[in-house]
Amino acid sequence: MPFKRNILCIGAGYVGGPTMAMIAFKCPQYKVTVVDINPERIAQWNSDDLPIYEPGLDQVVRAARGRNLFFSTEIEKGIQASDVIFVSVNTPTKNFGAGAGMAADLQYWDKTAREIRKYSRSNKIIVEKSTLPVKTAQAMERILTCGDTALSFDVLSNPEFLAEGTAIQDLENPDRVLIGSSQTAQGICARDVLVEIYANWVPREKIITSNIWSSELSKLVANAFLAQRISSVNSISALCEKADADVQEVARAVGMDSRVGAKFLNASVGFGGSCFKKDILNLVYICRYYDLREVADYWEGVVKINEYQKERFILNMLQVMFNTLAGKKICLFGFAFKADTGDTRESPAIQIAKRLMEERADLVITDPKAIDNAKEDLKGAIGNVTYVEDPLDATAGCCAIAVMTEWSLYKNLDYREIYRKMAKPAFIFDGRNILDHEALHNMGFNVFPIGKPPLTHF
Ligand code: NAD
Ligand code: UGA
Repeated sequence: MPFKRNILCIGAGYVGGPTMAMIAFKCPQYKVTVVDINPERIAQWNSDDLPIYEPGLDQVVRAARGRNLFFSTEIEKGIQASDVIFVSVNTPTKNFGAGAGMAADLQYWDKTAREIRKYSRSNKIIVEKSTLPVKTAQAMERILTCGDTALSFDVLSNPEFLAEGTAIQDLENPDRVLIGSSQTAQGICARDVLVEIYANWVPREKIITSNIWSSELSKLVANAFLAQRISSVNSISALCEKADADVQEVARAVGMDSRVGAKFLNASVGFGGSCFKKDILNLVYICRYYDLREVADYWEGVVKINEYQKERFILNMLQVMFNTLAGKKICLFGFAFKADTGDTRESPAIQIAKRLMEERADLVITDPKAIDNAKEDLKGAIGNVTYVEDPLDATAGCCAIAVMTEWSLYKNLDYREIYRKMAKPAFIFDGRNILDHEALHNMGFNVFPIGKPPLTHF
């Protein structure tokens, strides 16, 4: 039986792969093909060893792959056969030329637009899945419709709000799906096609529509607001440490106000991930472009506090460990930017590991899913670093443990045994506030949480 629709996604990354797997899983009537320029990534998507770790992803892929979900490198063929094309290529921070270090690097996006124009033989709906600067849809449309083409392209904005580690849950039961379109009759028609796809499993009231610029901007603003909450609570953690207050108690008291809400108020060593920093910097760049200096400075403060928090963590370790880390063995618990993912992009652990190596500490890194990425991230960094799978083995002979990632396995280790095998005095720096500080202190550890008075034996 022919498929009701042919959907293509260009970009088989953290967003393209899981999102398309969910559409295929929920909608067997559609054929969904995911293409990428990276043949190794595609081979992994076609294997039992998927290129990303995400709880629940294996089952969803296994159910749909080969039935109506296909991964391929045949981009030309994919474009020709499809009527809806999601574009989910990477949009990192530009690291050259004008706007370096701030603006979004749109080269992958631009290339994709040109490929779609080159290979298309029929009308298409193009869906922006990548996170993009406001007004990118206009540039896309201009690339697609320039020259003498008789084809029509409708560009929609459909930003993705999934978080890593909970991607499948977020895709299956999203808070909202946002679709921005041009407000012409044709734009509304295209929008309704996309609404119909999501309506296969997302309740209609959660599918919201808007004009295209609002949709593009909402994605940057949503990430900026989330990151702002973390920087807000992290800034207060510094004050709590001075004032003998407890940041978790403060966050609880503040978060119970229903106008504020309790989520995203966990003080930490800093936020990481591929998007928060890049999206805020992109927002700052756009504000500067429109000469909104005060607005730009306000949002840039969110990133600055995050840098401050990481640096504060390092300097605290150095100071309490008697102002020298040289030759001391220090174990990092976790390297991923958050729990339940192997992703280490912009992980605070990268900066902290490098700074500890600069202080000539001997690093031992353990993480249940991110050791391969950690090795890549620290390739070329000068200093001693070893990677040990088992956290108990990793801590033997260490002077200190620094918790970088909130993996739940770290909550239930045999800390009595760990303490016995560590060098004394033994320190724990809990960069995620996930451990039982009181109990650890009673075992003999000197404990340094985030935003709480330390528990020491001297
Ligand atoms: P990613 O780097 O994991 O994947 C992007 C993929 O696009 C890569 O596999 C790359 O090879 C491929 N690609 C690049 N140019 C191509 C081309 N011309 N043709 C075919 N394939 C091409 O990136 P990601 O994390 O999936 O992010 C993609 C976009 O989604 C970004 O804009 C990001 O900001 C946004 N986003 C990411 C997340 C997340 O959790 N990672 C969440 C929401 C939104
Ligand atoms: C974030 C957003 O939550 C998603 O909605 C968005 O789609 C995505 O960025 C994106 O655009 O890429 P993600 O970065 O995967 O998702 O993960 P988060 O759960 O937001 O965590 C980001 C960072 O903040 C992590 O390092 C996490 O440990 C840290 N964090 C989070 C805190 O330090 N404290 C908190 O209270 C919450």
